[in-house]
Amino acid sequence: MDPADMGDDLERVLLSEEQLGARLDEIAAQIDADYAGRDLLLVGVLKGAVMVMADLSRRLHSSVEMDWMAVSSYGAGTTSSGVVRILKDLDADLTGRDVLIVEDIIDSGLTLSWLLANLRSRGPASVEIATMLRKPEAAKVEVDVRYVGFDIPTDFVVGYGLDYAEKYRNLPFVGTLAPHVYGD
Ligand code: XMP
Ligand code: MG
Repeated sequence: MDPADMGDDLERVLLSEEQLGARLDEIAAQIDADYAGRDLLLVGVLKGAVMVMADLSRRLHSSVEMDWMAVSSYGAGTTSSGVVRILKDLDADLTGRDVLIVEDIIDSGLTLSWLLANLRSRGPASVEIATMLRKPEAAKVEVDVRYVGFDIPTDFVVGYGLDYAEKYRNLPFVGTLAPHVYGD
């Protein structure tokens, strides 16, 4: 899909495919350097992290393992409660592993701080976080994020894995939606 395919549903493109790719080149180079000589396990958080995982992992110069988790916050609210339920757990045993969590976006950081504590309790050698996007709210929670693609405003964004009611995940860019899409 390109911006024109969105018609008047698109408010604006926040980050283009080219901008996302260029930043991933930089982050992949950092990860290559930081983990030189070590076996890395990338843990993607479904579904949003699928695009970042695919594009980041293919830029690395060493072979990595990939595993996936699906988590859900309890409750139906639009804001994260921090209470998390595992919908799909990892296949891999984390004992002694160097783990890098790959995320699409950190908003309040509540989901991620829970996930971090959960994975750290499984005896890994290390656990770090890479996220494509981070909102300012994230600064309010104590989550040490090693790799950040872009800090973005608080507005709700879609594309590059992120959805509104399960739509728009397959946009190759990150954008904001026109107000009429939300029904107001
Ligand atoms: P936390 O716990 O960090 O939650 O508040 C992060 C999760 O919230 C979702 N999220 C978004 N999803 N556009 C989306 O499509 C957004 O702008 C957005 N902000 C937060 C997302 O599921 C993320 O994993
Ligand atoms: Mg979502």
